[in-house]
Amino acid sequence: MPDQAASIAESGIVEAYSERTKGSARLYEDARSRFPSGITHDIRHQHPHPLYLERAEGAHKWDVDGNRYVDYFIGHGALILGHGHPEVVKAAQAQMRAGSHLGGSHRLEVTWAGLIQSLMPSAERVRFTASGTEATLLALRLARAHTGRTKFVRFKGHFHGWHDHMVAGYSAHFDGTPAPGVLPEVAAASITVAPGDREATRSALAAEPDIAAVIIEPTGAHFGRTPLDPEFLAFLRQETAARDVVLIFDEVVTGFRVAPGGAQGLFGVLPDLTALGKIAAGGLPGGALVGAKEIMDQLDFTASAETETEKIGHQGTFNANPVSAAAGIAALRIISESDACGRANAFAADLRQRLNGVLAELSIPWAVYGEYSGFYLFTNVDKRPLIANHFDPHTVDPDELVRADAELMSKLRLAMLLNGVDLTPRFSGWTSAVHGADEAAATIDGFRNALQKLKSEFGESF
Ligand SMILES: Cc1ncc(COP(=O)(O)O)c(C=O)c1O
Repeated sequence: MPDQAASIAESGIVEAYSERTKGSARLYEDARSRFPSGITHDIRHQHPHPLYLERAEGAHKWDVDGNRYVDYFIGHGALILGHGHPEVVKAAQAQMRAGSHLGGSHRLEVTWAGLIQSLMPSAERVRFTASGTEATLLALRLARAHTGRTKFVRFKGHFHGWHDHMVAGYSAHFDGTPAPGVLPEVAAASITVAPGDREATRSALAAEPDIAAVIIEPTGAHFGRTPLDPEFLAFLRQETAARDVVLIFDEVVTGFRVAPGGAQGLFGVLPDLTALGKIAAGGLPGGALVGAKEIMDQLDFTASAETETEKIGHQGTFNANPVSAAAGIAALRIISESDACGRANAFAADLRQRLNGVLAELSIPWAVYGEYSGFYLFTNVDKRPLIANHFDPHTVDPDELVRADAELMSKLRLAMLLNGVDLTPRFSGWTSAVHGADEAAATIDGFRNALQKLKSEFGESF
């Protein structure tokens, strides 16, 4: 298959990036013969080479060449308290000394679960996993066993991890055809519906009696890149309850981020099951499935024996790992006792507005939008008239919202890196409680410089 990134034309931006990141280029040369595409996560695919990072602190990180960046990747959203929060580090270090894996039950897992339960209203029971992907996998298995049904409804573009059941419907295979390596019957069991479309959702549920679950990212695909009206959640709650379909919120990103109690706490809509990850483990690997006792009891030895149903097995070497538990406890305590979520949200709101100010100043008909502690860029490929600070992403079809020129986006990312700002390849990011005035100012200046550089390469055409 041709390498898309390799087809991106060389340019002043690419050359300047290569010049500034020679250490990264050298590591990438080595990595290419070791990893497919030289990378360990698809999102790191970047022409001419990904950035190799060395260390991080607060809202910043440094690459192997000593360049400093304002970080909006922030641990793929896991680090709402910033890199290396002293209390989280102290807790994790202490537990490393006390034992990184105790091969048994431990005190911290009980405290950790208790904190999650105190914050997440629907968490009657908790089962820790090693990742968010594992949490959605377990959610689906429990939902199927609980209902005795096989299919599930998901929403186009919503991401729920990379296991087989969640491939069709994310970025392709919306018709339930299998991606390479996925069994056709597994892919066919997912029914993909347009997010927010009540009629389509109702029809999908009505047409198919064999639906076990509905799973959703409660603030929309990619945390709100294609945003969702929160009222849709209440609608889903009603529709699923009426049909005994299990409602699963994927709060791997939104949990402990949009608010201490996640989207369910914020909107007051309680799902049956919730997948957690990222912030839950304080920036270390970890996840959890939480939810209704009745459904979670399928994992319980006694409850299964009493109901004479086969207990559902669940193992995992790193479930409730003590170091992740220590970090998770420290982080969740701070989140529950402080205004960390509020600060991250407020910073993002101000940043979005000021980034839009730069677009207006340079007469670029794009818009930065988002809610909570996220921001996204609409590059308006179809050239609709818009005023950046009044742009309402709900009025744009999700496909149009995410449409963008791949070469332009790749070079925008490099131009932002050249200006000391790291964002996702789609120019989106998460903010933290430790992003402040200096980081905002550096980001605004960086955005202005990056756009001017892009204009000089792409002309005034965009
Ligand atoms: C909404 C959502 N669900 C699930 C996952 C999968 O979590 P993990 O990467 O821990 O497997 C992610 C990861 O980015 C996510 O954003």
